[in-house]
Amino acid sequence: MLADLLASQAAMHGRFGGVVPEMASRRHLELVLPLIDEVLARAGIPLSDMSAIAFTAGPGLVGSLLVGATTARALAFAHGLPVLGVNHLEAHLYAHFLPGAQTRGFRLPAVCLIVSGGHTDLVLWEDHGRLKVMGRTRDDAAGEAFDKTARLLGLGYPGGPEVERLARQGDPAAIPFPRAYLDDGDDFSFSGLKTAVATFLRHSGPSFRLADVAASFQQACVEVLAAKLVRAACREGVKGIGICGGVAANTVLRREVADRARMAGLAAWFPEPALCTDNAAVVACAAWHALDRSVAWYNPTVDPNLPLGRVGDHGDSDPGKRGDKHENLS
Ligand code: KG4
Ligand code: ZN
Repeated sequence: MLADLLASQAAMHGRFGGVVPEMASRRHLELVLPLIDEVLARAGIPLSDMSAIAFTAGPGLVGSLLVGATTARALAFAHGLPVLGVNHLEAHLYAHFLPGAQTRGFRLPAVCLIVSGGHTDLVLWEDHGRLKVMGRTRDDAAGEAFDKTARLLGLGYPGGPEVERLARQGDPAAIPFPRAYLDDGDDFSFSGLKTAVATFLRHSGPSFRLADVAASFQQACVEVLAAKLVRAACREGVKGIGICGGVAANTVLRREVADRARMAGLAAWFPEPALCTDNAAVVACAAWHALDRSVAWYNPTVDPNLPLGRVGDHGDSDPGKRGDKHENLS
């Protein structure tokens, strides 16, 4: 990784308690070209020396996706480079292949958990380009539960880091919030936990500490995530597990996963926290590993609901349409 820059919009959206899609895409438009210039300057390599340009094809907010896709296509066309759309969730998984103190020796196959603001997916990652979604959330994503709980507690946005900070002063065993094991399948559910926090805050009077609520919520959340991840890995017979996506930056989740992995005799890998939350390095890394595979050359379009395992092809299964970069740019 030669250079990695992030233009965060968290402060702008924080005023509204969540991402405002129109503002996000407009701000992307203002920031994207200066940011590309700066990252190239830091790396000391001109754009024309790149092997390819990659962008996030989805899932995500359509306006922001379009800014990335259009920028990538225009730059690729101008410099005669191939362009490829990367699945946002697959990109998160590639954080495991980037440098980090706790990613050394990462190997496939592995069972990985993607925990972000929009997704909670349990994935059997067999090889590059080969993954199976074993389970997912039936309602709220884990990050969404953190963000909604933060709002209930009167904390700022994004909620995950704020809840984690407050929880440090609390007792994780103070309140027995529910754990949704859903009869021990691989799916998740977090809306019941969020409702339990709301109900507790409404009915329990002034005697409780907010830090205890935050710590107890966080504990309920991470226990379910870690237990299901480890159990799925043992059942599949893989040797290692990993976590990625914004919530994977959470130190209590990392500790819980590490403890349970040790007890189960599994290797556990943890990408650097800054590479867990949304960033471009993981998109580049996913693209780099896809360059060898002809299947990587999909039409560079966006899809706000792109499912995991699909890379912006909109169901176009004609391989003849994928092999030629000029056709991709048309
Ligand atoms: O992957 P990500 O950066 O963006 C999406 O693709 O959604 O994940 C953002 C989510 C937010 O819900 C945020 O609150 C959560 O990740 N998050 C955390 C932490 N840092 C970010 N949740 C818990 N603990 C954290 N330290
Ligand atoms: Zn993400």
